[in-house]
Amino acid sequence: MSAQTHLHDPQTLYRHWEESQWSPWEIDLTADREQWEAMEDRSLIMFVLSSLMVAEERITTKFSGLLGAHGSEEEATFLATQQVDEARHMQFYARFQNEVVAEPALIVEHVQRARAQVSAAFATIFDEQLVAAHDRLLANPADAAAKVAFVTIYHQILEGTLGLTTFEFATRFLRREGQLPGFVAGYGKIHHDEHRHIAYGTWFLREAVARDGALGDVVRQTLRELLPAVAESLTPPAGTDSSVLGASADELRAFALDGLSRRLNIIGVPLTTL
Ligand SMILES: [Fe+2]
Ligand SMILES: [Fe+2]
Repeated sequence: MSAQTHLHDPQTLYRHWEESQWSPWEIDLTADREQWEAMEDRSLIMFVLSSLMVAEERITTKFSGLLGAHGSEEEATFLATQQVDEARHMQFYARFQNEVVAEPALIVEHVQRARAQVSAAFATIFDEQLVAAHDRLLANPADAAAKVAFVTIYHQILEGTLGLTTFEFATRFLRREGQLPGFVAGYGKIHHDEHRHIAYGTWFLREAVARDGALGDVVRQTLRELLPAVAESLTPPAGTDSSVLGASADELRAFALDGLSRRLNIIGVPLTTL
């Protein structure tokens, strides 16, 4: 069944990128500024914004190893566009910090401030597991297992599981409350880009596992190591009222797991075989 699911190849995804350009500076943040000033409880929104600021910085600066490990010119072309996308996403969140949340500052200062807000599990995933997988790929661009482990963490877990879940519940909440329309608009553009990135990750892993079944074990092992921290980082921090999101922690986890398990079936490594 999985072999029949149509997936776009890197050349097609690159063509989609050419048709999907946007600028972080075309988003109108006027209403967001006014609403931010008037907002009584910012704690949950600050938690989400901080997580996104830290995540996009990590995702932008821990990526170049994958470019060096490209398998074809078409794949290198697509990956070059993803690198630009991630930098654009980081710039959008930095602009939001500059113009809505805080005083204008360098990105490093925004990231540092945001770091104080994120959970320990989040730091484990982004500062330890992602960094280790990226270092390994940078050192061994021809190592198929290193590339599979990196794409499993980056595209399937960070973008596909944490990213899509955060987008779904954060924008559902903000839309319902009529809050931060500029932020929601920019985040929507980012989400559209993320679907392209995740599609690449699913395509790449399916090809890799079809070529060499042992690489399926690399996917399994990587997921086993990562899933506890993923489940933990989908739990809102103590002191914030997660029910204001209109969803329980169980609903968040069910949404996350459902998408992941659909993609793993396509890749040929069902979650049940972990
Ligand atoms: Fe991104
Ligand atoms: Fe992405």
